[in-house]
Amino acid sequence: MAPVTARLKSCPEGPPKRLTIVLNLFMPVILLAACAARAQMPTYSNVGRTPTAEEIRAWDFAIGVDGKELPPGKGTAKDGAPIYARKCARCHGATGEEGPLMRLVGGKGTLTSMTPLRTVGSYWAFATTVWDYINRAMPPDEERSFTADEVYALTAFLLYRNGIIAESDVMDAKTLPKVQMPNRNGFIPQRIEEIPDARKRGCRLGHCP
Ligand code: HEC
Repeated sequence: MAPVTARLKSCPEGPPKRLTIVLNLFMPVILLAACAARAQMPTYSNVGRTPTAEEIRAWDFAIGVDGKELPPGKGTAKDGAPIYARKCARCHGATGEEGPLMRLVGGKGTLTSMTPLRTVGSYWAFATTVWDYINRAMPPDEERSFTADEVYALTAFLLYRNGIIAESDVMDAKTLPKVQMPNRNGFIPQRIEEIPDARKRGCRLGHCP
């Protein structure tokens, strides 16, 4: 293995970590290539170009659960009702409860039953994520076609129909993150210390009764 050690020393930053195991098996040829690859990585010469700020904005529009990235704008359930009737009802039902496709309203208290109905009201943990989902994905044949005001209004309509906010409550970048979704604490976090009342509830090894 002498040559391997020698080559390792000659690669100034050491080989990339993922390759180490392979290197121990396959010796210096690969190691030399790994050194070369690493040395070239930061420059990216002759590969594409730096994206413009506008190009980055075009795909960098995800809204996190805390809603920090929410854009200016506002809407109420009243504003959302006519948009919903025009753009959503054909798939999700006139009130959101009928379908034919995924039901968005109702299902409260069914998650622990033998026939759970997962809707925005019964299942979703964050109102901000509902905004993000509508904004990026709905309707499926016209996604990303709404203004921010329209997305606030549609989100408000679904929250209102699920009995979470009032019909005239204004949803905007400040109020939406404050909405408490009924199933907010229904998900089991990865770490047991993040589970509210884990001890009281008798949670063990990721399972809470
Ligand atoms: C052409 C049919 C169609 C139309 C119109 C449509 N949707 Fe959907 N929607 C779907 C389908 C299909 C899904 C499930 C997608 C999946 O799970 O991959 C879905 C899922 C959703 C979900 C997530 C439901 C969940 O619990 O996972 C929301 C919220 C939603 N739609 C809102 C809307 C809103 C608001 C509109 C109107 C602006 C709309 N949809 C218009 C077909 C449609």
